[in-house]
Amino acid sequence: MILDRLPEDNTGRLHPGITRDEAFALVEKYNKEPFHIQHAETVEAVMRYFATKLGYSDEADFWGLVGLLHDLDFEQFPDEHCIKVREIFDAEGINPQIKRAVVSHAYGFSQNDVKPEHQMEKVLYAVDELTGLIGAAILMRPSRSTLDLTVESLKKKYKDKKFAAGCSREVIRKGAEDLGWELDYLMEETIRAMQDMERGESSRIMEK
Ligand SMILES: [Fe+2]
Repeated sequence: MILDRLPEDNTGRLHPGITRDEAFALVEKYNKEPFHIQHAETVEAVMRYFATKLGYSDEADFWGLVGLLHDLDFEQFPDEHCIKVREIFDAEGINPQIKRAVVSHAYGFSQNDVKPEHQMEKVLYAVDELTGLIGAAILMRPSRSTLDLTVESLKKKYKDKKFAAGCSREVIRKGAEDLGWELDYLMEETIRAMQDMERGESSRIMEK
């Protein structure tokens, strides 16, 4: 099934049509595990970082909310990930364009044929597993922090297939490739985004 195309309001910008508070209430409604809630907020912050980095700062709210909501069905329906979320989003009145963007991050899995096309969708695809790998990597460090994490150190973890084996190296590699980026660049910028989040510098301020 091909879902609707990405939304534009009458200014031509992608527009979420939902507030951050409303979206976070949904995260808490469908997720109880602190890990999942933290992951949602991490991917939100990373998406907002890349929106600004890549020249989409006007659409940062949209990018962030896609990140916040991207795994909404995963805790309760891991076997129907990105399938069940279509029903949930319809029931909760989420606009079809957020749905399309979220669903596209599981392209290639769960009979999912919605391919990441917009740069925002490609970034989501690329950073989802990578933020998980970074999260696992910092737990091994004395600092337990991203602030002293280097690309070199992260790459060692990336190459160690036994480390955080659930984080798909293939998705990370393909994500960078689909963006036309070197893996090192994707890692460097994602670390930087998570450092900003850790320092409390990532903006969650949404336009009214
Ligand atoms: Fe995720």
